[in-house]
Amino acid sequence: MPTLYHGADYNPDQWLDRPDILERDIELMQKAHVNVVSLGIFAWCTLEPEEGRFNLDWMQEIIDRLWAAGISIDLATPSGARPAWLAKKYPEVLRVNADRTRQLFGARHNHCYTSPVYRDKVRTINQTLARRFGRHPGVILWHLSNEYGGECHCPLCQQAFRDWLRERYGDIAALNRAWNTKFWSHEFADFDQIESPAPHGENAMHGLNLDWRRFVSHQTIDFMKWERDSIREIVPEAKVCANMMYMFPGVNYFDMARELDLASWDSYPTWHKPTETLEDTALDTAMMHDLFYSLKGQPFWLMESTPSYTNWQTVSKVKKPGVSLFASLQAIAHGSDSVLYFQWRQSRGASEKFHGAVVSHDGREDNRVFQETVQVGQALCDLARVAGTKKEKQAALVFDWENRWALEDAQGPRNAGMGYKQELLRHYRGLAKNGVTVDLVNGEADLTGYQLVVAPMLYMLREDFAAKLRAFVAEGGTLVVTYWSGVVDESDLCWLGDAPHGLCDVLGLRRCEIDGMYDGETRRCVALDPRLPASAQGSVLCEVAALEGATPLMAYDEDFFAGAPAVAVNAYGKGRAYYVATRFEPAFYAPFYALVCEGVIGDAQLLPDNVLLTCRGPFTFLQNAGETPVTFMGVELPKYGTAVLEDGKRIY
Ligand code: GAL
Repeated sequence: MPTLYHGADYNPDQWLDRPDILERDIELMQKAHVNVVSLGIFAWCTLEPEEGRFNLDWMQEIIDRLWAAGISIDLATPSGARPAWLAKKYPEVLRVNADRTRQLFGARHNHCYTSPVYRDKVRTINQTLARRFGRHPGVILWHLSNEYGGECHCPLCQQAFRDWLRERYGDIAALNRAWNTKFWSHEFADFDQIESPAPHGENAMHGLNLDWRRFVSHQTIDFMKWERDSIREIVPEAKVCANMMYMFPGVNYFDMARELDLASWDSYPTWHKPTETLEDTALDTAMMHDLFYSLKGQPFWLMESTPSYTNWQTVSKVKKPGVSLFASLQAIAHGSDSVLYFQWRQSRGASEKFHGAVVSHDGREDNRVFQETVQVGQALCDLARVAGTKKEKQAALVFDWENRWALEDAQGPRNAGMGYKQELLRHYRGLAKNGVTVDLVNGEADLTGYQLVVAPMLYMLREDFAAKLRAFVAEGGTLVVTYWSGVVDESDLCWLGDAPHGLCDVLGLRRCEIDGMYDGETRRCVALDPRLPASAQGSVLCEVAALEGATPLMAYDEDFFAGAPAVAVNAYGKGRAYYVATRFEPAFYAPFYALVCEGVIGDAQLLPDNVLLTCRGPFTFLQNAGETPVTFMGVELPKYGTAVLEDGKRIY
């Protein structure tokens, strides 16, 4: 039976002295159509109060009762926060900061990923849980740790980093070449001379910084695999997931997702921020949903969200009536098979006591948050057959972690921020406002099946990906490339010769110069093609290119580069490639992509303001992100309303 999951992080370990509350939880879960909970995420000190003494009976009782009530369990490994005894007895598990100070016991998500002691203790508790609960019919999934992230600079990690470098480069001469170490006389004679980047040490060597980022990502995933494998040794068929985060820089999620059965993420958009419309927030969130779908090219889980408010954003805005349902169905529309919240019941104390939860301190079921959660649960029951359905391949938006690391670390041409995400989002919005289905892919992607590939700020362009892009266009694909692309290779060494490296012939032009703009500084551009906005402002970086066969569609209209192309198109093989020389204001991109999609993506259509259209399998989701009702495709959508069509027929 296809099922959409509805549930929450459940932390009954905080309420073991209140059996009445635990009883009530299950009753309320049933009322809210909850069918899964993530259990025991931070329960290590309750599960193993002293080294080697395990206390699992409470969990057994809760799992049995949940299961009897029709609620499945996404069972957590508790490694995200360690008990005090462990830190006290084995200080090597404590993380060391970049300045080489070792942290004290406290907070969470702060263990060393390399420490053999930590790995050993994690394996023991994981296997203890797996032996006891791994074959329980209620346990359908394992929640590995919580939001893996962060880095450790302890001696064990330094050694692991050097070993990783040895493996990557083989000999030190190759490393010296890749890092261009003759500069400032930084040549290394041996791997043992290398230290991780530090504020009081090496911090401006881009090759080192990049490899450190790669290593941290690798080591984090290695730790995650250790956790996964410790469970699978006991329960080989165990399904695992890990909850990921919004635009998280620290781990290459494409690599991480390969090791998991299911991708999932924790979504906390800044709904109702005065500087954003609800549509802005929704599109920003949509790009993330599409990323997490794309990681495995299959439905993901929305592992956490808040039914009401967070307590960590600058200001904690309450979701207005209807927005929880809107946001939840938006996740489903973009490929989620679940809506889960952090957390089921609001904590009484400690740092998250004012974070929203399904059950608030008042414990009532007649308040707005609980009632709206019931509504979400009902909607997920009504839409159960959406579960498991896939999205069609139309456009691929290239979002590459390694490119991001290198791009953001470079000194110049704009140290005031390159805004990679802002650039991606502009293109994403342009596509989404034409109703195009977008996958986010990295520089290792297979581009077959896509009609359109968009590669914004592809600063690091590996030779093999450039070849894939060329072949994609030659065979009839449409490509969009922007300024600041094809600049460096995979070692962050500048490509020599004409730029964008590997793409000059595809684009029919060559970069001559690039000028940085201060915040607020812009350069006017004018349209040469009537389908584009008559004028638009370029910002952030203005690249100046010389045409070598491409047709200009917009041109700069001021400064010494007036007349140079701001947008151009070039025919190459059976396809065509567009070039965008600068960052335009957000409103430019919807008409731009209407032009790009013409004849390329059959069902693309410019959507009215506030209307969102997302397709998944035979289902079309229409949503109104605005405050006034709209009618679109014959369907009336109230404020924040959602309609779902199946093969064109309304089912919700
Ligand atoms: C997540 C985290 C949860 C909780 C939540 C609050 O990042 O995984 O444990 O802290 O944020 O919004």
